[in-house]
Amino acid sequence: MSAREHDQHEHGHGHGGQQRAAGTTDAGRAVLEDDALGVEERWEGFYVARGRIWSGRPNALLVEVAEPLTPGRALDLGCGEGGDSVWLAARGWAVTSVDVAPTALARTREAAAAAGVEVTTEQHDLERSLPEGPFDLVSAFFLQSPVAWDRAAVLRRAAGLLAPGGHLVLVDHGSAPSWSWHGGHDFPTAQELHDGLALPPEEFEAVRVDAPVREATGPEGQVGEVTDTVVVVRRRG
Ligand SMILES: C[S@@+](CC[C@H](N)C(=O)[O-])C[C@H]1O[C@@H](n2cnc3c(N)ncnc32)[C@H](O)[C@@H]1O
Repeated sequence: MSAREHDQHEHGHGHGGQQRAAGTTDAGRAVLEDDALGVEERWEGFYVARGRIWSGRPNALLVEVAEPLTPGRALDLGCGEGGDSVWLAARGWAVTSVDVAPTALARTREAAAAAGVEVTTEQHDLERSLPEGPFDLVSAFFLQSPVAWDRAAVLRRAAGLLAPGGHLVLVDHGSAPSWSWHGGHDFPTAQELHDGLALPPEEFEAVRVDAPVREATGPEGQVGEVTDTVVVVRRRG
């Protein structure tokens, strides 16, 4: 995500689920935006600079999309503090949670233990490596970073880990909330996001490409609307 998108992520009070629970710090933002550092240092610094950030609840769109699916093997890309991973594990999925930040993975393990479920955590810089598949579900929620990377290529490789019939669920921010000072930012549409993945249509079918609007709460209790950009594709077979 760009720095601006990141701010929006922090101040958008989330994602309809993993709302920010504690205050953010300038130190966390500064380290995340420090171009002199590598991707692991930046994201690790972001998590270390503050305590647990999110509420631990799953993203509402994950619940909506994954609830009707039969549990199998799931891969949570950029799992953060593990709210989605823990929800999936509690639903019976065998979950592999990946993040570049060791502290995020440690918080995911703690959240799983507190919920009495198991998740497998693996540290990867997704630009360099991915866990071994196959998976029935690959989720990427707000996998947005201020570090320059070819995210579409990462997501394409991740889609390649899907078993036949498996789903890739990609959800990004699709707007800045009204209280953000970063208005005017252009967000890709859901169709642009889908097309940017350049997945071969003979192998993957789009099952959902849309941008639902939901209510979100700002840092000072402001209530407003934010848009999420949603792409769900299914591997044929
Ligand atoms: C904005 S957070 C979203 C976390 C979580 N999915 C959620 O919905 O709350 C993005 C996450 O992606 C991770 N991340 C960013 N770049 C990464 C990379 N190259 N490889 C692995 N994880 C990465 C970050 O450490 C961070 O936890």
